[in-house]
Parts: sequence; structure tokens; C-alpha cells
Amino acid sequence: MTSPAGDQPDQVAAIVPAAGRGERLGPGAPKALRLLGGVPLLVHAVRNLAAARLVGLVIVAAPPDEVTAVRALLADHHTGATLHVVPGGSTRPESVRAALAALPDAVGVVLVHDAARPLAPVELIDAVASAVRAGADAVVPGLPVTDTVKRVDGDVVIETVDRSVLRSAQTPQGFRRAVLEEAHLDLSDGGITDDAGLVERAGYSVLVVPGAEEAFKVTRPLDLVLAEAVLARRRSGGVSGVR
Ligand code: CTP
Ligand code: MG
Repeated sequence: MTSPAGDQPDQVAAIVPAAGRGERLGPGAPKALRLLGGVPLLVHAVRNLAAARLVGLVIVAAPPDEVTAVRALLADHHTGATLHVVPGGSTRPESVRAALAALPDAVGVVLVHDAARPLAPVELIDAVASAVRAGADAVVPGLPVTDTVKRVDGDVVIETVDRSVLRSAQTPQGFRRAVLEEAHLDLSDGGITDDAGLVERAGYSVLVVPGAEEAFKVTRPLDLVLAEAVLARRRSGGVSGVR
């Protein structure tokens, strides 16, 4: 694989932050290891990334005390991509940095994809990677916000926000590797909750591409109920929900 310029590394790797505890999902195993259709969320996420046309390498940031177990799990499930598992950190950005440090030189494009988004369509993964390959520094899938959004002060509404200019940000997010690495040099997270936010802070422009409803994040127990239903529909050959 060579870039249009012919001299830049442009292999695509995916980083999977998977080291969170899943506090909001409730008691149990770390979230990435919780089951969906009998298979851990992480395995779904890695399989989808590995199935993407452009992704050649997947680096998982696992819960530090589960690294050996995660290696064995992914080996058992034959996800089909070249895989590395590294110990994650105590925050999501730390986990991303741990995986960034393990990237080989040939990688020029990096996707970051939450293990907690097990049903992100392969088409979305390739669309994000393609947009970076086509020249964007940073790419985020976004969906229009469907709820009416209020700005509040305590329990008092200050204003109703114009939601037409808002997007819910999903993963996979895609980056030119050097851009993502630069954004992560500032170790303070400043309340920023995604990699695109760090890249914005570093002064780069971030392109929004259409997100996919099925790329939703499993955060609370009801999300797992929805994920089971979506998976059951997929397995019975139902519509994929790709948009
Ligand atoms: N993550 C990570 N390392 C951390 C914290 C989070 O790799 N120290 C990962 C999670 O495993 C998840 C993704 O970042 O795949 C998105 O985070 P989130 O949905 O907040 O997951 P958790 O942190 O596990 O959940 P909670 O915040 O409810 O504890
Ligand atoms: Mg979290």
C-alpha cells in the first residue's frame, strides 16, 4: 500500500480502547468482556474492524489484569486480522496512548474504536478510513440529535439549544497518525471525552461523516438489551441499519 505521494506510510491500524470497568453497566466483568449473543463485546468490535477492507492491524488496550485472558480470547475467536494486545490505562486517553505506542512505523492512518460499540457496521469503518486516506486529518461519524436539548443551571432551564447544528459523535474515529499523536502529547484531558476532541484542541479541523445508528455505545443496561435485539435481527438476515 502506498500513498498518492508515494513516500508516506499509509497502512491503516485500528486501536480499540477496551480497558474500562463498565461502571454504568452495573456489576460484572469489565464491559469489553461482557457477552452479547454469547460473545464478548470486544470480540464483536475486533471482528468488525478486521472485516473492514482497509484495516490490517488491530491493537487492543485491555484491562491491565486481563491481558493474558484477552490474548487467549481473541486467539480463540479467530478474528482474522493481525492483533496486538497491550495493557490499557486508568483513563480512556491513557489506554489510547498505550496502544499508540505499540504502532509499527508503516502505519500512517489510525482508527480509534470503542470496544463498547460492538455493532458498528463494517461499511462505516471503511468510510472513516477512506476519508482519512483521501486527505482529512481527522474524521468523526456523527448523527443528528433527536431529543430537544436544554442548557440548564441546576434544575432551571437557561435555554433550548438549536439541535440542528449538533451531532452525536461516535467511533470509529479516524486520524492521520501524526495528528493523533500530537493531540495526545497534552496529557490533560480537560473534560474531553473523545479523540476528535483532543485533535480539535490541538487546532486541527475535524471532518464529520454520516454515523450509523447501529454504532451506538453500550453504556447502560438498556443498551445491552437493544444490542441483543439488533444482533438477533442481523442473525436472522434483517436490515443492517447502515446509513
Ligand atoms: N476505556 C479504556 N480505558 C479506560 C476507560 C475506558 O480503554 N481506562 C474504554 C472502554 O473500555 C470503552 C471505551 O473506552 O470501550 C468507552 O468508554 P466507556 O463507554 O466510558 O466505557 P467504561 O469506561 O468501561 O464504562 P463506565 O464509564 O461506565 O465505567
Ligand atoms: Mg468510562
